[in-house]
Amino acid sequence: MNESRYKSPTTNGSPLDPATGLSGRRITRFSPPPFAHIPVMAENVKEIFSTVPSGTILDATIGGGGHSYQILESRHDLNVIGIDQDSEALDAAESKLSEFSDRVSLVHSRFDDLSAVTKLIGEQNLSGVLFDLGVSSYQLDNPLRGFSFRNDGPLDMRMNPDSQITAGDYVNQSTEQELASLLHHYGDERYSKRIARSIISMRPIQSTKELANIIRDAIPERSKRSPGHPARRSFQALRIAVNSEIDILESSIRKAIQHLKIGGRGVVLSYHSGEDKVVKRTLRELAGLNVSNSKYHPEIQQEEKILLLARKADRASRNEILRNPRASSALLRKFEKVSEG
Ligand SMILES: C[S@@+](CC[C@H](N)C(=O)[O-])C[C@H]1O[C@@H](n2cnc3c(N)ncnc32)[C@H](O)[C@@H]1O
Repeated sequence: MNESRYKSPTTNGSPLDPATGLSGRRITRFSPPPFAHIPVMAENVKEIFSTVPSGTILDATIGGGGHSYQILESRHDLNVIGIDQDSEALDAAESKLSEFSDRVSLVHSRFDDLSAVTKLIGEQNLSGVLFDLGVSSYQLDNPLRGFSFRNDGPLDMRMNPDSQITAGDYVNQSTEQELASLLHHYGDERYSKRIARSIISMRPIQSTKELANIIRDAIPERSKRSPGHPARRSFQALRIAVNSEIDILESSIRKAIQHLKIGGRGVVLSYHSGEDKVVKRTLRELAGLNVSNSKYHPEIQQEEKILLLARKADRASRNEILRNPRASSALLRKFEKVSEG
């Protein structure tokens, strides 16, 4: 199931105790917090879709429905198909968008599978597409989902709780080399080797707090003084691996653009450089712009399917970042489909 370049662990870790979410040790029991997520750069997104032809917007990462709410409220001639691989997000979106229920279809799937979109509206019929990548604040803040290094919870990190491989499987079953490589590539973690060595020596590791403490203890004292939690990058790397986030990004953007009609627009919001690098390269290729002809991409075809609506990524305003610190890392890229290429 996992297309990651890193070998996925082959079995799901030891069974979880349903009362605690952990195996063999008891932690404080949490009830899930209410769904909360502030949509990032929502005014910009609304503005970009303000001129698209009537029809359907694909919200490929509907989350709590915040962006879609703004789109549906501002354009009465637009419908939304919302995809999410997390059924808790779909419940939240259903409730948030209830006043527009006759204009919304929700689909539980990964965004690289657009078969539901084809079934609902056929090919090349989208007026817009939105990817707001990564996790929602709800997923991060709910300790039971295991994304957070601040709260204790099971080492899970699956956006889709029905999928097989958890963060615990990566942590407890990968080799030292696989772990170091994963932390380096997906987390830009400069102490990846030290952290991987430390993790291997402390296995089995069951909870997010346990892992966060092991990572904190593995890095040199001077680096603990830099801003942000020392486990931040490693947790990001594990999350990306568990959910195959980078692996499916390029093909998903290409498929979505294939479904756009001429004049339809797209927006991609990403939150870290590894993700943005893939988005930028894919969009530049599709816009027929020069892409470095490295040995990794020897035969790039010049395509001119889209027009980039800005050369650089847009960023959130200072005011927005003050209200919603999550917006500080957001990079927004926007485009319009101009030909079938
Ligand atoms: C940043 S949140 C989106 C928030 C949303 N724009 C809003 O305003 O509420 C990202 C959502 O995308 C979902 N997601 C991430 N990767 C996905 C994928 N490959 N397929 C389907 N859903 C995905 C996550 O489960 C999460 O709910």
